[in-house]
Amino acid sequence: MDRIRITGGQPLNGSIMIGGAKNAALPLMIASLLTRETLTLYNVPRLSDVRLLMRIIGNHGVDAGIGGKRVDQREGEGDSITLSARDIVDTTAPYELVSRMRASFWVIAPLLARMGEARVSLPGGCAIGTRPVDLLIMALEALGADIDIDSGYVVARAPKGLQGGLIRFPKVTVGGTHTAMMAACLANGDTVIENAACEPEVVDLALCLNKMGAKISGAGQSRIEITGVGRLGGAHHEVLPDRIETGTYAMAVAMTGGNVLLEGARADLLQSALDVLQKTGLQISEEAAGLRVSRQGGVIAPVDVTTAPFPGFPTDLQAQFMALMCRADGTSHIRETIFENRFMHVQELVRFGARIKLDGETALIEGRKSLKGAPVMATDLRASVSLVIAALAAEGETMVHRVYHLDRGFEELEKKLARCGALIERVSGEH
Ligand code: UD1
Repeated sequence: MDRIRITGGQPLNGSIMIGGAKNAALPLMIASLLTRETLTLYNVPRLSDVRLLMRIIGNHGVDAGIGGKRVDQREGEGDSITLSARDIVDTTAPYELVSRMRASFWVIAPLLARMGEARVSLPGGCAIGTRPVDLLIMALEALGADIDIDSGYVVARAPKGLQGGLIRFPKVTVGGTHTAMMAACLANGDTVIENAACEPEVVDLALCLNKMGAKISGAGQSRIEITGVGRLGGAHHEVLPDRIETGTYAMAVAMTGGNVLLEGARADLLQSALDVLQKTGLQISEEAAGLRVSRQGGVIAPVDVTTAPFPGFPTDLQAQFMALMCRADGTSHIRETIFENRFMHVQELVRFGARIKLDGETALIEGRKSLKGAPVMATDLRASVSLVIAALAAEGETMVHRVYHLDRGFEELEKKLARCGALIERVSGEH
């Protein structure tokens, strides 16, 4: 199993290319199941989650191709992939695959909408608290599906097709909104989604579905309206830049100091996180090529943060921000309101000498002038990158174990950081 070795203390200087958003690429790929025609996606990040999803949708009958370089392709841009689900050959998504990535559960929506049936294993995914799918099931039921749970599988049927309806989410759910939108596109009649997620990835999916012929309005607001259509066609769509990758590298620079251009990054996708980072002392400016982030000397100011659905501070940046606060000049509080138990990184951050106390959904972090490198273990995707951020500023050497979590969501992390001056390398092999 690969590990990453980091020797802390170097500022970051240079530029980092921000890839396409994993959390947009996954639902976009799943949307290919809605049509017989070809969906072409550009700027798809090269991540293990993407490769796994290719296998999963391949099982249902999607022919996937990875294109070669294009003439107009930017340096460092992601893959172009073509996805053609001419015939759906299997409407079952097996446990062995779905248990490895929670988002793959979302295939239930296009399979059901197009084929009138789907049998999808209850998911697994990151170990961040219980992550039920009751709201996704509720949404499909609101569109007329019959749902049973059978031997760990969700069995959904709508032999006469789905019917438009009112879906009122009691809680904001990104996956629920993706699923509801995909299902409602091919339902008979009109659907209204209330309390929809407003995340940029929801907007990106709606944009792509509309290019495919769907009639969706209001994506990005809490009320989305959809008029069902008889069929969807192919489309070309470029995946939007990854706001979590952007925020992660911005936090790395806030931690180490230095000056880095985050190429291709868009401030409007993570304004609340950028506002918080500015308060910590990070300088941020928008340039034609992306976002420039810098901190030259000075202390890291402590800032309190509460995670919230978009446009609030994203839960997917909570662990990274906590790493930063471990070196702040004072005490800060971080409240996690999206996922219970999303604090597994705390016990690992403590190994760097961090002082963190947990009280229910709030962490109290007493910043320290210096952290010390240590052997640490990655526990989930975002938590693992928080350990890298801590290590970049810690004295001495850190070895991060179980880095396969990082490969799920960060493309070439160690290369991107090394090019900016970090002392970081991947160590392949056993242990
Ligand atoms: C997506 C993101 C993930 C991010 C999360 C919140 C992808 C691939 N993943 O995950 O990185 O951290 O949004 O921004 O895009 N819930 C229920 N019942 C359900 C569904 C969700 O109770 O049926 C709860 C969850 O437990 C959680 C909250 O709703 O407490 C939000 O979850 P949700 O937005 O659905 O997260 P995901 O779509 O799984």
